[in-house]
Amino acid sequence: MRAIVYREFGGAEVLSYEEDAGRPEPAAGEVRVRVVAVGVNPVDHKRRYGRLEQFFPTTFPAVPGMEFAGVVDALGPGATGWAVGDEVFGLTRTGAYAEYAIAAEIAPKPAGLGFEAAATLPVAGETAQRVLHELGLNGGETLLLHGAAGAVGQVAVQLAVAAGATVIGTASPANHDFLRTLGAIPVAYGEGLAERVRTVAPQGIDAVFDAAGKGVLPLSVALRGGTTDRIVTIADVNAAEHGIPFSAGGTPPAEIVAGLARHARLAVEGKLAVPVADTFPLAEAAAAQQVSEAGHVRGKLILTV
Ligand SMILES: NC(=O)c1ccc[n+]([C@@H]2O[C@H](COP(=O)([O-])OP(=O)(O)OC[C@H]3O[C@@H](n4cnc5c(N)ncnc54)[C@H](OP(=O)(O)O)[C@@H]3O)[C@@H](O)[C@H]2O)c1
Repeated sequence: MRAIVYREFGGAEVLSYEEDAGRPEPAAGEVRVRVVAVGVNPVDHKRRYGRLEQFFPTTFPAVPGMEFAGVVDALGPGATGWAVGDEVFGLTRTGAYAEYAIAAEIAPKPAGLGFEAAATLPVAGETAQRVLHELGLNGGETLLLHGAAGAVGQVAVQLAVAAGATVIGTASPANHDFLRTLGAIPVAYGEGLAERVRTVAPQGIDAVFDAAGKGVLPLSVALRGGTTDRIVTIADVNAAEHGIPFSAGGTPPAEIVAGLARHARLAVEGKLAVPVADTFPLAEAAAAQQVSEAGHVRGKLILTV
C-alpha cells in the first residue's frame, strides 16, 4: 500500500513516501479502513523527533498519524458492528498517513459531513472535551484559553461558549476577528498579556486551559489569584515544575466514541467546525508537517490519500 514511513527519529527529511509499505491486516475483532483523509497534528512531528517516547513508544518502521476519515474495507475474525463500505472517522494506532489503517476508536461519518471535515475532529474534539471536563468548567464561568486559534483551541472555544462560559482566547492579532466569530474574546499573547487579560476579565479567571505551551503557566497561576487549581496544560513540558497537571489522554474508549458521534452531530448541525487550513496529497506529508511545525496553522491541515 501507499504510506509515509520513517525508520529513524529526525526532521521532516526522515519521512519517505512508499508505494509498497506493508498493509496492516485486521486481527480478531479489528476493523480495517481504507483511509480517505488524514488530520495532521503537532504530535505527529513531535513523535517523529522522538520527543514523546514516554507516552507513545515508537516501533520502526513507523507510519505517522492518529486521525482519519475513510471507508471500512475489511473485518477481522469476529469483528462486529461494522460492514465493509461503512463511512467512518476516528483514531488509529497503526498510522493514518497510509492507504489502510486499523481502527482504534471510530464512529459513523454522517453523510452530511465530508471526509476532510470529519478528519479535522477526532483529536481536537477528544482533547478539548477532556480538558474542559478536567477543569470542571461551568456555564457562567470565565475560561482563559491559551492557543485559541489552533485546532484544539477552536473546539474548546466552541464547546465552552455553547456551555455558557465566557472565553478569553489568546492568539496573534491576525486571528482576533476569527475568534470573535466563534464567540471568544481575543487577546494578543506576548508581553503584557496578564494586564490585557485583567482588562477584559475584571471578574477574574475561573479556569485556564493552556493549549499553546509557550511558558504561560506562571502568569496563569497569577491570574488565578496564586493558586494552581483549575489550570491544565496539554503542551507545556515544564508543567510539573509549576505544580500543574499535564493532560495527555486517558479518556475511556467508549467515551471517545461517544464524543466522536456527538461532535459529528454538532458539525452537521453547523454548531462545531474546524476549518481545513490546507490540503496536501499523501506524498507531500513532509511539507504538511513542516507547516504544522511552524506553529501558526488556523484550523487543520489535511492529507488526501
Ligand atoms: N496532550 C494532549 O493530549 C494533546 C492533544 C492534542 C494536541 N496537543 C498539543 O497541544 C498543542 C496544540 O495542538 P493543536 O492541534 O491545537 O495545534 P495547532 O492547531 O497546530 O496550533 C496552532 C495554533 O497555535 C497558536 N499559537 C502559536 N503560538 C502561540 C502562542 N505563543 N500563544 C498562543 N497561541 C499560539 C497559533 O495561533 P497564531 O497563529 O495566532 O499564533 C495557531 O493557531 C500542540 O502543542 C499539540 O502537540 C496535546
